[in-house]
Amino acid sequence: MTLKDRNILLGVSGGIAAYKVAQLARDLTKEGAKVDVVMTEAATRFVTPLTFQALTHRKVYTDLWQEWTEEEKGHVTLAHRAELAVIAPATADIIARLAQGLANDILTTSILGCTAPLIIVPAMESNMYQHPATQQNLATLRERGAFILEPGVGMLASGASGVGRMPEPEEILGYIRLALGKNSGDLIGKRLIITAGGTQEPLDPVRYLGNRSSGQMGYALAQAALERGADVTLISGPVNLKPPVGCKFVSVKTAREMEAAVQRALFEDELPADVLVMAAAVADFRPVTSSDHKIKKDKTAPTIELTLNPDILGGLKDAPGLEKLLRVGFAAETDDLHANAEKKLNNKNLDMIVANEAVSSIGHSDNQVTLIERGGIITEFERKPKRAVAELILDKVVELLAKKTA
Ligand code: CTP
Repeated sequence: MTLKDRNILLGVSGGIAAYKVAQLARDLTKEGAKVDVVMTEAATRFVTPLTFQALTHRKVYTDLWQEWTEEEKGHVTLAHRAELAVIAPATADIIARLAQGLANDILTTSILGCTAPLIIVPAMESNMYQHPATQQNLATLRERGAFILEPGVGMLASGASGVGRMPEPEEILGYIRLALGKNSGDLIGKRLIITAGGTQEPLDPVRYLGNRSSGQMGYALAQAALERGADVTLISGPVNLKPPVGCKFVSVKTAREMEAAVQRALFEDELPADVLVMAAAVADFRPVTSSDHKIKKDKTAPTIELTLNPDILGGLKDAPGLEKLLRVGFAAETDDLHANAEKKLNNKNLDMIVANEAVSSIGHSDNQVTLIERGGIITEFERKPKRAVAELILDKVVELLAKKTA
């Protein structure tokens, strides 16, 4: 599920961070969301309505007293249309008015009439934020079900450093995706464990054996699953990507660390896992020994003796207690793609395997995959960005979960 065609009410109140919210409005629009920007009078002192209009290609709402039409009934339409409301930045004033249930401008009136989930993103000067009045108002709103995205610590508009800084638009966007998924996704109530990236097998403190995996496939799967409402544990080898907002993130380096993390996630978490997706490129071998000191150059190159790493997925084949677990593996092959992938599907006791050609998939931002299910059901797809591939895989996961629980 993406942000395409989702109706989002973006409330902007009068704080300097309003300028950053222009970026958020742009990002949401770029992803296809229909953004209704609703501004307080004070907000229009910081950023003009025209800025938001140009960025969202939609009307911007600033006036409670605008004329109603058959299609547009002011705050009533805004409140009913919204699938999610976000107020960013939320000043001490708007927080107080919302806590009181006041309805004295277009924003408070729309929010009062809106039953969709509400995200509040406070941003203000530290003392104002920490004042018991503001904290009490936030507690009231939280109690009523609003999600408060806590401000960060950093440089504020006054030049001083303290708490009150609005999170970056990218982070707010992450919470928007999460809230939409939690409200309407097709993986609500499901727990997914996803592995990503390659493992690094140390030779000495500065060298390792590794592979070219970038982690993009696993991270795209985690992001897409969160947006569908799943509870996600992402276990990742070292990569250059930010973990998606809202996942439980476990960072590992070696195959053995990844194995231990997968087992902890499967057997020690309070919630049972519904799905394990092993998208990680686990190193099959590791050096028998890893030196504590940097291996020095000698006249001859050292010989590296290797030993087998555990097969994480294969090792769970007959593990007791996992009868209900849906297992999805990946097969990265350079030859005989389908035959080799099918062999892995059977040998590792999987429900589905994602077959992809190794060289053109590992480290690339798009991928061409074939999904192979038990019983020889094969679905081939064209090359697509990894995010789109993630959606196709999760469509199948949803289908297989329904079959498994039927
Ligand atoms: N896998 C695993 N543990 C390993 C190696 C692989 O759990 N030590 C998982 C991968 O995450 C993937 C699947 O098993 O989901 C297949 O991985 P792949 O590297 O394609 O195959 P291998 O089993 O390692 O076999 P080979 O390298 O010989 O093709």
